[in-house]
Amino acid sequence: MKTKITEMFGIEHPIIQGGMHYVGLAEMAAAVSNAGGLGIITGLTQGTPEKLANEIARCQEMTDKPFGVNLTFLPAMTAPDYPGLVQTIVDSGVKVVETAGNNPAKWLPQLKDAGIKVIHKCTSVRHSVKAQDIGCDAVSVDGFECGGHPGEDDIPNFILLPRAADELDIPFVASGGMADARSLVASLAMGAEGMNMGTRFIATKEAPVHDNVKQAILAASELDTRLVMRPLRNTERVLTNSGVERLLEKEKTLGAHIKFEDIAEEVGGVYPRIMEEGEMEAGAWSCGMVAGLVYDIPTVQELVDRIMQEADSLIGQRLSNFAAA
Ligand SMILES: Cc1cc2nc3c(=O)[nH]c(=O)nc-3n(C[C@H](O)[C@H](O)[C@H](O)COP(=O)(O)O)c2cc1C
Repeated sequence: MKTKITEMFGIEHPIIQGGMHYVGLAEMAAAVSNAGGLGIITGLTQGTPEKLANEIARCQEMTDKPFGVNLTFLPAMTAPDYPGLVQTIVDSGVKVVETAGNNPAKWLPQLKDAGIKVIHKCTSVRHSVKAQDIGCDAVSVDGFECGGHPGEDDIPNFILLPRAADELDIPFVASGGMADARSLVASLAMGAEGMNMGTRFIATKEAPVHDNVKQAILAASELDTRLVMRPLRNTERVLTNSGVERLLEKEKTLGAHIKFEDIAEEVGGVYPRIMEEGEMEAGAWSCGMVAGLVYDIPTVQELVDRIMQEADSLIGQRLSNFAAA
């Protein structure tokens, strides 16, 4: 399939794997890129420029297709070495960066000078327009359904995507709640040039995470995610577990007085425990409502091929039958 996004990133299919903490390692990114999508390494999981350089080099060993690096700007106790991470990306020859969390304007000149395409992930139309104004090449429009940080506006993709289409000139992909060919075709219908998936890619054979995580996504329904950290204006959609329910109790009890320190046990250092050790009750880890649409654990290649084949028949048969009638 050819869209503005496949053309921009030099990929075969308009499917991107969003940056995911402790999931977006070289194995994940390479599997998606080898299947014809755009895989993305998560910069902050590596943390230091040296480790990121090493992870990019590992990915370059596993694929000769384009892949990207995610740079997330979120509130952190100690700020990562962003200048060092950006310089590493530039030096490595990576050609796509997915930014998220905060306005990436400060880093754009350096990235653009190196010929890197920047796709900024936004949860609102106004942030998408801002991304366009500051010179981002594309936007990933992340609806309220999404796993991770949906922002504070709570606008689902059936409204957000067509609104983005009405305001943007640069291409965008639909993100949040995307699982299959229906997601892709609907996104294209609403003006997107492709889709970004997070949660769905974790439930694949190549995802470099503990099998308990994949089984938890498989077992979850669309009712099993929770929004945490809303009182801190750092809302995150996560899969429920006993740690998450304890966190929500604290939010209820402490109300507006809650501070990060109060919930540090349920959110700090949880990712390695979940993703590497499979301790599924450890606390808050991002997961989308789309878990309810995950019914199997295929290889990434099987997943991408299935999406593209079914998209072809959705467009060529189901939709064209309606048009012809
Ligand atoms: C486990 C997990 C970790 C994530 N970590 C990050 C991250 O570090 N940076 C980021 O920009 N987005 C992160 N995301 C968001 C994804 O890139 C993507 O936008 C989101 O998963 C899309 O929604 P979906 O899960 O419904 O597909 C994460 C998502 C998941 C599920």
